[in-house]
Amino acid sequence: MGRLVVVSNRIALPDHSKNGAGGLAVGLLDALQEQGGLWFGWNGEIREITGEDEPLYTEQDKNITYAACSLTQNDYDLYYSQFSNTVIWPAFHYRLDLVEYQREAWEGYLRVNQMLAEKLYPLLQHNDVIWVHDYHLLPFAAALRLHQVKQPLGFFLHIPFPAPEVLMALPDYQEILRLMTAYDLLGFQTERDAQAFLSAITQETDVVTVEKGIYQAYGNTFHLHDYPIGVDPDSISKLAQGPLPPKMQAIRKELGDAKNIIACERLDYSKGIPERFLAYESFLEKYPEQRGNIRYTQIAPTSRGEVQAYQAIRHQLETETGRINGKYGTMSWTPLYYLNQHFDRRLLMKIFRLTDIALITPLRDGMNLVAKEYLAAQDPADPGVLILSKFAGAACELTEALLVNPYDRDEVARAIYQAITMSQSERVDRHAKMMAILQHQTITRWRETFLDDLYQILE
Ligand code: G6P
Repeated sequence: MGRLVVVSNRIALPDHSKNGAGGLAVGLLDALQEQGGLWFGWNGEIREITGEDEPLYTEQDKNITYAACSLTQNDYDLYYSQFSNTVIWPAFHYRLDLVEYQREAWEGYLRVNQMLAEKLYPLLQHNDVIWVHDYHLLPFAAALRLHQVKQPLGFFLHIPFPAPEVLMALPDYQEILRLMTAYDLLGFQTERDAQAFLSAITQETDVVTVEKGIYQAYGNTFHLHDYPIGVDPDSISKLAQGPLPPKMQAIRKELGDAKNIIACERLDYSKGIPERFLAYESFLEKYPEQRGNIRYTQIAPTSRGEVQAYQAIRHQLETETGRINGKYGTMSWTPLYYLNQHFDRRLLMKIFRLTDIALITPLRDGMNLVAKEYLAAQDPADPGVLILSKFAGAACELTEALLVNPYDRDEVARAIYQAITMSQSERVDRHAKMMAILQHQTITRWRETFLDDLYQILE
């Protein structure tokens, strides 16, 4: 078996890994560790333009080599902030109103993908298998193929793939589809995403079905499949039950006897946080007797702060929090806590275990791992309730959650009421059914199935 080469926009360098890293990074690191490998990507730094080619930053940690490069300010702006995060991200999350298209950004996106491919190419060995991650790198395989790279190239899209009518709003969508077919294996979070890709491409060109899941288009043969990403429920459960740090005692006290709602995500408009605040307000209006007995904590650390749409939503949340607390709060009760801060994952899992309801209502989401983490962190004998948007990929599997339309405030308000009044036996029952799914579809299974399929392409 050859070396595994993982390529992603951001890479988790060793000093950030394992303890503090998210589940996905840990899942990938385990695979790299087991079979030996290389992790290649951007080191998160911006460099000065010196006119000289900057050497790669490399680091060796046991079985894994890390190789990373920095970006110039111009590359960062065009490739990352603009095309990745102001064109693809909003469009793929159905927010065409937030797309700001510029041809210069598209060209920068292609150029940086080519630059990254050029840097990776000399590091490759002939029996490597290459696994590329996420929307920053849709053209990466095509860029590598320009160097006659023959190794199998797999791609996994962590975010949704939009319906063809939405995709078609992007001026370069045909080129994006064509470039994506340079991968040997295209993996998506759900069958709906995989089908959306297939129908978009079928509308554009002649697609030959070799057999189910294997297609030919634009002179390329590619495999297409869904691989719902999971978590490692056992390690989350351990983190959630681990010894309580002193800080935690204070948090436990602050949570008090009220019914506690928790939500935690990057501050992103796709997560539906302002809509959720309004749904919580509807709950306070509809069930006034519950005021004083409930507390909603929203954790949302700033993300992509240089992009205008992210600045706007941050201001919106600050205003809404003030308005809701000003309107409903009392001298002794604050209905909504909004924490624009990063929380350590180990602490977060403990907080999840102490809370009664997770309110996870993205307007669109590829999967949503927080929903799965919340479930895994619960005490199975007295678990909390998961309220989940039907537009999260996770809703395809977690049908025992209270599934809601995040745009429907009344429905979300009713779900909150249903959650706080749900009997313990129903909570236990729903939780157990969802845990069975989580135990089956783990992060390990996710990567093993993807890699098995990719290795089979070799044979
Ligand atoms: C999402 C994307 C990831 C990305 C992460 C953080 O989960 O799917 O590819 O790394 O957000 O976003 P950032 O822009 O900070 O890398």
